[in-house]
Amino acid sequence: MPEIIALIAPQNIMPAFADSLGILGAHEHHVAMMHASGSHTQIQRFTLQTPVQKIHFQESSRWLLAALSNSGAITPYLHKERILVCALGACNNHQQLASELQLLPGCSLGNLIAALLDRALQAGHTFSAALKQLEGKFDGDVSLIAQYTSDAQYFYALNLGVPLFLGLESGLGQICSSSAKLIRLRANPVHEVNHGEVVRFGLNAPALCHSNGDTSPLIMSASKTLSVPHHMLAEIQSQPVTLAAQIDKYKAEQVFPKPLLAKLAGIHSVTLLASGSSFHAAMIASYWFETLAGLKTQVELASEYRYRDIHPDSHELMIAISQSGETADTVEALRLAQQKGHPETIALCNAANSTLTTLTDHTLLTNSGAELSVSSTKSFTAQLLLLYQLALTLGKTRKTLSAEQIARAEQEMSNLAKVIHATLDHSKELRRWAGELHSKQNLFVIGRHAMYPVALEGAFKFKEVAYQHATGFAAGELKHGPITLVNDDLPVIACLPWNAHAERTLSNLHEIRANRGEIFVLSDGNLASSDKFSVIHMPSGLHDLAPIAYSVALQLLAYHSAVLRGNTIDSPRNLAKSQITA
Ligand code: G6P
Repeated sequence: MPEIIALIAPQNIMPAFADSLGILGAHEHHVAMMHASGSHTQIQRFTLQTPVQKIHFQESSRWLLAALSNSGAITPYLHKERILVCALGACNNHQQLASELQLLPGCSLGNLIAALLDRALQAGHTFSAALKQLEGKFDGDVSLIAQYTSDAQYFYALNLGVPLFLGLESGLGQICSSSAKLIRLRANPVHEVNHGEVVRFGLNAPALCHSNGDTSPLIMSASKTLSVPHHMLAEIQSQPVTLAAQIDKYKAEQVFPKPLLAKLAGIHSVTLLASGSSFHAAMIASYWFETLAGLKTQVELASEYRYRDIHPDSHELMIAISQSGETADTVEALRLAQQKGHPETIALCNAANSTLTTLTDHTLLTNSGAELSVSSTKSFTAQLLLLYQLALTLGKTRKTLSAEQIARAEQEMSNLAKVIHATLDHSKELRRWAGELHSKQNLFVIGRHAMYPVALEGAFKFKEVAYQHATGFAAGELKHGPITLVNDDLPVIACLPWNAHAERTLSNLHEIRANRGEIFVLSDGNLASSDKFSVIHMPSGLHDLAPIAYSVALQLLAYHSAVLRGNTIDSPRNLAKSQITA
């Protein structure tokens, strides 16, 4: 089936269109698209290869109208440089209408419709009223998307028999297409345009156009059957469920294998080996191993550790953390530790039967389901929860925790899914922040204590998916150098849970304000937003596990920034899910 598509957004929509072609595949391989080129409209035609390769458009445009067909016959049509139409379908009275309009009998459907619209405009009707008058004109099924080029901030969709769907994309863009699959995968909420309905969409909220020229807001409801536009967003949103499942397993005592439990009493220290996001999970967990289990804990970047002169300790527990279990540096670092005689090793992975799991004495699986986006989100928080459960179990075994502390820790786990849910509810506010942050060249993300590695991970996410130069700092380190860089063009994102460290971090924020830095604070404290000091109030209910909630908020923030920058979300440039080269 041929398809028509329109995309419009405040930012460049070409990368989103390239993604859409990937979703649609090459069944209809002739593409004709019209988009803005400076103050002109430009038509571009090309054919898709099979399988569809990722296309990198050189041009940038904030709107686009395209047709995909087998013959190349369907194409956007520009009439007298002022009416742009892309139409789908067929009508039995085509020739009759063409002769009435003094057009050639073989003229395209787009040409026919544009001429009908032009006639109505010349008779003094508005563009939306001209569209309304098309109803009843065709003997057959037709649908179209049109633009009055002097008002290029809007498109209009009219369904006269061929299904059309309008969707809001999470980066504030709007998309209209005859393909239900495309819309389902890219947008939510979605509206299926009813027969005879003229829907205006574009840079403002979509509206229904009425015959008398009035408009009314289009009510769009989120559909449960419609998915989200990117795997990364779906994976971020799934975290309350993946974490709750892991907590249930812990309660059912199904997480730790008996042979591992038997070894825990003899452990005197822990070494955590990892790369990328998994390294940040290890850094966060090191606070738990120290506090809950009273164990000396070392965290090592696998890519460095593997070249070091290491001295194993026979009472040391070595945990190699990798969502894929295939990261070459982590695998080699573990091999080195084993060659040097490291006694007890664990692979903590999301992928069962990965290389890492075949090398270690024990395997702990995060069980967060396949993660399709290259950037780790749900597997990262699952690593954190599993490491917390291990630290708690070590604390119980080593009797470093009172019954009251254990009960508090278990209560916190019970609160976790609810708090993560409430964190996800801040998505709109985070998207608003992203609206301000996505155009910045440089960003700082700061936090203290366990929020320091959360800040590192947040900055990592900005680099990975938003391609922004973000640096994570320990809040207390700013004064030792980085503060020189703070000015009104370098926003600082702060993770500030209201705990024993909060007052100190707040005084760091005052120093930043004094240097004209704009501050974006995530906090469950009683703080108010003021000029250049914006606060998102995080849900309370977590203490030790707060890093998970703040990480989720930063995942969403980086995601929204990446979408606004028009980036490819699920497969960022130059990155692979399993980095198998060292
Ligand atoms: C790649 C990915 C990162 C990931 C890192 C470690 O570089 O781009 O997102 O954190 O590998 O992956 P692992 O599978 O070992 O956790």
